[in-house]
Amino acid sequence: MPRKDWTEGQLFDPGPAKMADKSKTSKERIWTQNKARLISRYIYYFQLVTKHGTYIDGFAGPQDSTKLDAWAAALVLDLEPLWLRHFFLCDQDISKLGHLKDLALAHPKLDIQILPGDFNLVVHSLLQPENIGEKEATFCLLDQRTFECEWATVKALARFKADSKNKIEIFYFLAEWWIYQAFGGIKSVAGEQRVEAWWGRPDWRDLPSLSGTDRAQLMADRFTGELGYGYAKPYAIYEKSEGEGRVAYYMIHASDHYRAPALMSAAYGDAVMPPKPVHQAAFDLGLDLEG
Ligand SMILES: C[S@@+](CC[C@H](N)C(=O)[O-])C[C@H]1O[C@@H](n2cnc3c(N)ncnc32)[C@H](O)[C@@H]1O
Repeated sequence: MPRKDWTEGQLFDPGPAKMADKSKTSKERIWTQNKARLISRYIYYFQLVTKHGTYIDGFAGPQDSTKLDAWAAALVLDLEPLWLRHFFLCDQDISKLGHLKDLALAHPKLDIQILPGDFNLVVHSLLQPENIGEKEATFCLLDQRTFECEWATVKALARFKADSKNKIEIFYFLAEWWIYQAFGGIKSVAGEQRVEAWWGRPDWRDLPSLSGTDRAQLMADRFTGELGYGYAKPYAIYEKSEGEGRVAYYMIHASDHYRAPALMSAAYGDAVMPPKPVHQAAFDLGLDLEG
């Protein structure tokens, strides 16, 4: 796996910020090509707090097989330092599984399990005490394209450590600019059943009449209201770096950890910059590395 290149030539000029998230402090914008950096940067901060942990990626194959340097799973496994101990990477597409296997081969010292199949089924065999202990800090990336991740799957993840202080932390991707087309393309009963399984409620039919920000906020509110997360917030991911650009999707971040909002805010703010050295990040975020 080629190393990340953080030379300035590869970083975009973010231009003026225009965010749905009004509480955002940074002027940077995250766009689809650097969303993997946002994910890996958050994980970098997450593990500075947890000092251990398990990473689950339910839809883990590379979005673009020709751009493996913008692949979330690869950037996470390349983190230095890397304190997470266990990795579960699932994908149902055979061609993507080859990339996942190569990634595991490139990191022979890490405990990486490749899970072939539909994550909506695989999740139930994965969520077992022998795989993930009650005290194991666990993060799950749900980087679906549109309607692939069923609500029952999200619920299973949220309930798995329901007795623990910290449930499995989640990044959930909610499509935005192509979602109207996707709703418009539902022409069959099977299609309707698929969308209902994704949303988990019959009121999915109301979604196209909502604005993108309202839909994202509604989804975030479901993480707190229905699933019991202490905090859930949408982050806008733009289609491209130049001009105004459309919001491509919202990433909903759900966590019970009191530090999570600050870590996410830091990650969103500096995802397109070189990573801060561990000790500086610890000073800036008020973390105790020895604790
Ligand atoms: C948007 S891409 C993931 C992008 C990736 N996170 C990255 O950083 O490039 C979605 C992936 O989910 C896979 N997929 C779609 N439906 C799935 C399902 N039900 N279970 C598991 N994987 C699925 C696709 O094959 C594809 O590789």
